[in-house]
Amino acid sequence: MPETAPATVREHSVVYAPRIQDLLARETKVFRADARTVGVSDAHLMAEIVAARPVLSHERSVYKPAAGAEIPHDSATRTIRALGQDVTAALRTPPPPVRALAGPWPAAPTTYLRRWLFGSDPLPVSLLARRGVTRSDVLSRLVDRAVTTWPGSAGPDDTATALAGLIRGAADPLERQQAIAMYRRASATLCDGVAALAGNALWLLHATGRRPDDLTATLWETLRLLPPAWMLYRNGDDAGGGGTDGGGAYAGLHPEIRPGDNIALLPLLMHRHPDHWTDPLEFRPDRWAGVADPEKTPGFMPFGFDGARCWAKHLIVPLADRLLTVALAHGLAVRSPRQDAPVPLRSLLAVRFTASVGA
Ligand code: HEM
Repeated sequence: MPETAPATVREHSVVYAPRIQDLLARETKVFRADARTVGVSDAHLMAEIVAARPVLSHERSVYKPAAGAEIPHDSATRTIRALGQDVTAALRTPPPPVRALAGPWPAAPTTYLRRWLFGSDPLPVSLLARRGVTRSDVLSRLVDRAVTTWPGSAGPDDTATALAGLIRGAADPLERQQAIAMYRRASATLCDGVAALAGNALWLLHATGRRPDDLTATLWETLRLLPPAWMLYRNGDDAGGGGTDGGGAYAGLHPEIRPGDNIALLPLLMHRHPDHWTDPLEFRPDRWAGVADPEKTPGFMPFGFDGARCWAKHLIVPLADRLLTVALAHGLAVRSPRQDAPVPLRSLLAVRFTASVGA
């Protein structure tokens, strides 16, 4: 890739879904996005909104209730600890052959990561993370039932992940059902999120013609310009007329916010404000050189805010870094399109393109 190419991410290098385009065109930091939703990209107001009430259990992505019951805090903690062990173990083992990363992104790296991280789990547990299964409710229910009956057994040849160990070690049927849900959600969130981040980074490198000299800095800059968690949602229907347990808690915080309004917190927009960044649209990994703790940077919230911050944040960048290191060493490159790659409206922001491997 020529190093002389301009670093600015030409807005035509990606084509956002119309709804995202509309948000990016907003000039104010607090605005009505639709009849029921207020969009917010003001850092202070975001912090106030997050502090106004805790995230409700059904708003939580990974630890929302499963099998009809809340997830106990200690079981959530065990899950994240197990996931940490599994990622650390994967980082020490050779990854699967890189040719599996050729094809459509982010689907290819999602499948690749599932194989790398959870491929050693015995049947039927490994099916919990299989793409074809997770996309079908019927198949998911069947596999859940199979895993409940045959959660695998410990033995000298045990290759199961720590996350699978939580299913096997569950003390009762409810705990086992919840451990199954945790396995599915945690593995999906990890593989989908890391695939999106690595893909966005690869696209930005391609679109700007930059060399990946410092992958860690490249990933932090990608989390700024194309953050996979681009919008965090707070539900206004839980207002119940006000108080501290619902959307009513937000109404006094800004004149635009009415009781019952949903709130869309928008890191994607905040990460581009000239108030916080020089040359905000430029893809400049060097801005992170020597930054010891990127998350302390004002106006930068790729993993959420104090009080609701991502429990897995320490796993994401190292795993994406390793994935890209291996992939680039084997000649992984964007094959098509040359420009105008689509970014569809999804809960995770991910550029779609096709990659090839080898010269
Ligand atoms: C690239 C991958 C990921 C990104 C970009 C990401 C980003 C975020 C963001 C922005 C939040 C704040 C959400 C809000 O305030 O509404 C959050 C919260 C959280 N994340 Fe992540 N996350 C990722 C992966 C994961 C994984 C793999 C797990 C665990 C299995 C996880 C567990 C959590 C938890 C527990 C919270 C706190 C919210 C809650 O209490 O449920 N995240 N994450």
